Amino acid sequence: MGKTIIVSNRLPVKITEADGKFDILSSEGGLATGLGSVYQSGNNLWLGWPGIEVNGEHDQNQIKQQLTEANLVPVFLTADEISGYYEGFSNGILWPIFHYYASTYANYKQADWECYKHVNKKFLTALLEITEPEDTIWIHDYQLLLLPGLLRSVKPDATIGFFLHIPFPSFEMFRLIPWRSELIEGILGADLVGFHTFDDASHFITAATRLLPVNTTSNVVTVDDRPVVVESFPMGIDDAKYAALTRSDDVLKEVTHLKDTFKKRQLMLCIDRLDYSKGILQRLQAFELLLETYPEYIEKVVLHMIVVPSRDSVPQYRELKENIDRKVGDINARYRTIDWSPVNYFYRPFPLETLSALYHTADICLVTPMRDGMNLVSKEYVASRTQDTGVLILSEMAGASKELIDAIIVSPSNINSMMEAMVTGLTMPADEQKRRMRLMRQVVSKFNISHWVRIFMERMKEVKQMQQAMHTR
Ligand code: G6P
Repeated sequence: MGKTIIVSNRLPVKITEADGKFDILSSEGGLATGLGSVYQSGNNLWLGWPGIEVNGEHDQNQIKQQLTEANLVPVFLTADEISGYYEGFSNGILWPIFHYYASTYANYKQADWECYKHVNKKFLTALLEITEPEDTIWIHDYQLLLLPGLLRSVKPDATIGFFLHIPFPSFEMFRLIPWRSELIEGILGADLVGFHTFDDASHFITAATRLLPVNTTSNVVTVDDRPVVVESFPMGIDDAKYAALTRSDDVLKEVTHLKDTFKKRQLMLCIDRLDYSKGILQRLQAFELLLETYPEYIEKVVLHMIVVPSRDSVPQYRELKENIDRKVGDINARYRTIDWSPVNYFYRPFPLETLSALYHTADICLVTPMRDGMNLVSKEYVASRTQDTGVLILSEMAGASKELIDAIIVSPSNINSMMEAMVTGLTMPADEQKRRMRLMRQVVSKFNISHWVRIFMERMKEVKQMQQAMHTR
């Protein structure tokens, strides 16, 4: 049996540079944790971009060596490649279209498309250097849509899985991309194509059927006699890790500090990467409306809002940051009192222990994206509620809403109903909170991250066996 190679745009590390020396920290992101059991065992590998621009052979070799010890293989990108492939095509075209932000944000530059193709080929070259015939290749996300097809064209028998971590849009949206057929052809290079939800999978099947001469039966798309299975695999988290964290000394200390600070005030928490798809401004509007409509909540509730900096080289993200700053400023200036601020706003990342303490303490967690493939924050909150109380307010536009049906489900564009959901959450009796939270904790625990990895890998094997059986018939 061969090894498994994970491929994603970003390696699961954070690299910093000081005085010509590189420091490599492993990332605590969901995918990194989930696939840790895969790439860290045996001679398995993870191939991806190290996340910083590294020029010069000496520095590149230094990083390469350091990464090798962790089973990681870097693909270095130049400044132009980062600009055209990452900022331009991936985050300036694919991200907005796949999140239904068409007319305002997508800018279909031919040069960015050329660069996207070029970088996908660069990943192919790097992959071919480490791939052996029996290997299983698992490619991730929208930055590498062409890679499964590129790999298939040179390795027709390879075992290739592809998983999309963001939504797959309806055909009317997807067809706006000038290079839509090439993108579908790229994805169909895989044997197994996975999405978070059933809707994403069926949108993909519709697009493939409308754009290419393929045969489709149920969830199998046949391309030149090669069946490609398309299915949903909702991603989970390491729930046991989040539960255990709430019992650690460091977290307990922070929990005590938070309780002393907020005293009898109710705490509403939100944690997001800075992104227009996360509905941060709409949520602030709903909170402002709450204070306006129900002044009895003044000084009684705090919105603790963590925004993690992201993609600040893409213009729309910079603009959003300014709008959020302004909105928070307005709300605080209008409602604050000498010893209370309605919004505690932080624009920086925090260590996992701090997040755990916040999840464990917050009366309400607001997860209200306009569109989100899955959203793992909602699951992390649930897994951290070992006391079983707490209220999750969850957008119907997040993949997680298909599983966490005992949350208060809201439409993120309906500001009024979001505000009413806040009131429902703030006044929900403890018994009701417990009933809902226990059900959600069961879901998060049963369909955790190891379950996700296991069923995807097993399905890939089954698909390969099915294809082999067809050929020997
Ligand atoms: C989303 C995407 C990932 C991406 C992450 C962070 O979760 O699905 O592919 O890695 O955002 O974004 P960044 O652009 O910083 O990699």
